[in-house]
Amino acid sequence: MTAYAEVIGDPIAHSKSPLIHRFWLEALGLDGDYRATRVAPDELGAFFAERAADPAWRGCNVTVPHKVACLDHLADPGGVRASIGAINTVFRAEDGSLAGTNTDAAGFWAPIADLDLAGRPVTVIGAGGAARAILWALARVGVGRVTLLNRNPLKGAALLASFGLKGEALPLAAGTPPAALLVNATSLGMTGQPPLDLDLSPLPAEALVYDIVYAPLETPVLAAARARGLDTVDGLEMLVGQAAVAFAILFGQEPPRDRDDELRDLLT
Ligand code: ATR
Repeated sequence: MTAYAEVIGDPIAHSKSPLIHRFWLEALGLDGDYRATRVAPDELGAFFAERAADPAWRGCNVTVPHKVACLDHLADPGGVRASIGAINTVFRAEDGSLAGTNTDAAGFWAPIADLDLAGRPVTVIGAGGAARAILWALARVGVGRVTLLNRNPLKGAALLASFGLKGEALPLAAGTPPAALLVNATSLGMTGQPPLDLDLSPLPAEALVYDIVYAPLETPVLAAARARGLDTVDGLEMLVGQAAVAFAILFGQEPPRDRDDELRDLLT
């Protein structure tokens, strides 16, 4: 019986998760599989009931549009519903029940863990599921004022309040004030989407610009940041980072991160 895990979403064909997890399974010589499964919103309950009864199933990653809806079908051992409010990984708890957790926050934080952001101003663009995990991570390290730019500032203000962050939510057109870190947590700049059109000139020379979009790898905002000589982190770092935490949960072994260069080549 080959153990397997999967990523569920709707649509799902574009997902890079199978490439990442299969690369690690093969690198570790594990007898396991990882696939992509399209699950429509009204199929979630039946999907989990069926998988719960399959002893070969180790769990799944969860992407758009199920990251919040999944919580209705799962145990919540880490209190994700009350904290981040969205999950991206489902696994079997010790008592056999299905449980949800969120590895996006750890995946976001890993590449910038050395930055001292305590009390420093940051700008986050977006107020969706990814922004929730990012704001939760930023709140945990005690960042200073947060400027949240979003096309719907009311939604942004509600997010800031729910994470106990000081700052303000503004429309995208307001632009960024000076900040130590600027994060694009929207899909703007992704292939087929409009670019994130933001004037980076208020950012100081030591600012870091982080884009969660990974297709293309060099987004317009990262290109603009590099042209200004600013440090950057691209979306593959968070993608691989969240997958690494999920892989350890799903397959019980740490993935071989010393092979990240090969993995990045495979993904680009
Ligand atoms: P994810 O789970 O990847 O965060 P999401 O929850 O759909 O996906 O969130 C996408 C984010 O990108 C949201 O903040 C969305 O803005 P709204 O909060 O106003 O919905 C933002 N976004 C997507 N397309 C956009 C566009 N064309 N212009 C501005 N913002 C956009």
